[in-house]
Amino acid sequence: MIESRVTRREFMKGAGALAAASCLPVSLVELAFADERQNFTFAYISDAHIQHISGTKFVRNWDRGLIRAVAETNLMTPKPDFVVFGGDLAQLGTKAELDHGAEMLAKLNVKYRCVMGEHDYYLDLGKYWSELFGPHYYSWDHKGVHFVVLNSILTYDDWTHNRWPTAEQRMLEMAGLDNPNGSPFMVGEAQRKWLAEDLAKVKKDTPLVVFSHSPIQKIYKGWNFWTEDAEEVQALLASYSDPTVIYGHVHQIQYNQIGKIAFHSVMATAWPWPYPESYAQAQAQGQIQFPKLTVPMNRADPFFERDATGWQFIDVASGRTTMKYNLYNNTNRVVAFNTKTGQPEDTAFQDQAGRIEPQIHY
Ligand SMILES: [Fe+2]
Ligand SMILES: [Fe+2]
Repeated sequence: MIESRVTRREFMKGAGALAAASCLPVSLVELAFADERQNFTFAYISDAHIQHISGTKFVRNWDRGLIRAVAETNLMTPKPDFVVFGGDLAQLGTKAELDHGAEMLAKLNVKYRCVMGEHDYYLDLGKYWSELFGPHYYSWDHKGVHFVVLNSILTYDDWTHNRWPTAEQRMLEMAGLDNPNGSPFMVGEAQRKWLAEDLAKVKKDTPLVVFSHSPIQKIYKGWNFWTEDAEEVQALLASYSDPTVIYGHVHQIQYNQIGKIAFHSVMATAWPWPYPESYAQAQAQGQIQFPKLTVPMNRADPFFERDATGWQFIDVASGRTTMKYNLYNNTNRVVAFNTKTGQPEDTAFQDQAGRIEPQIHY
């Protein structure tokens, strides 16, 4: 194990060797600085969806995804400085599921921090989650970078408090991907006020990395790949020199650039969602609002256990973001900023002709 500071080259070499040996269901992030600041890495695991069956039984595949991610994170050389879990630890927000997931995360040999997912929240509105993991939104500084965690999966008070006769029904309604009884996610006014106050203390040239569960963008409302007040949150980030938003929830690779803000998704340990464009009803409804730069997934098989899992780096040194994804049984992907076009692009699949057509799902 290399315990001391290593160069970016050494780090890449180590990570490459590990990737060749196995596919990592974890996202590994490197923040590399061009000046005297120390480069560092952190790992990202998301969307485990631990699901209770009965008694001591849980859905095995989802357990295995998280167990493997934790085990492989613990084997990384050099050790990541910390781990972020990106939300949807549980499937239906129960104590049994959150406890079971927390037990697996507790095996991480580095500090971890959590982001709230809708599957964690809508049973008891995040009460038990807070007992395990702390506040729903918070920030910290690490080696010159300001990190912010937002709870982006809140919704209208009326839907949350008045619409459903039981907490269980509320949870089930929000747990459905394409359920018309769901309600759009949002960060909300109180949290936006907190964010504005938090950022008031942060210099504009400080690298800023925001973690949310839903995208802080409007991608596809029908599946809640959506944040209702995305523009308001983006406005708070836009004055920074190189802000990055990293999100889970979509269980697939997405990226985009809006003004100065770079957006990147991380992959799930549970299952992949097919790209929404592949859904016939979405096309018929004309509801797709894809970010201009997002590249469709090159696969659409929700029953492919290890699909949509991998690892990636982020380089904030240049002020631009490069993600390196290693995918199970698929061509690896690199999403890097193209200085000629001024936007992040997939180096292999950006051209329409190079893409694999999405499958049609009904
Ligand atoms: Fe999820
Ligand atoms: Fe989610």
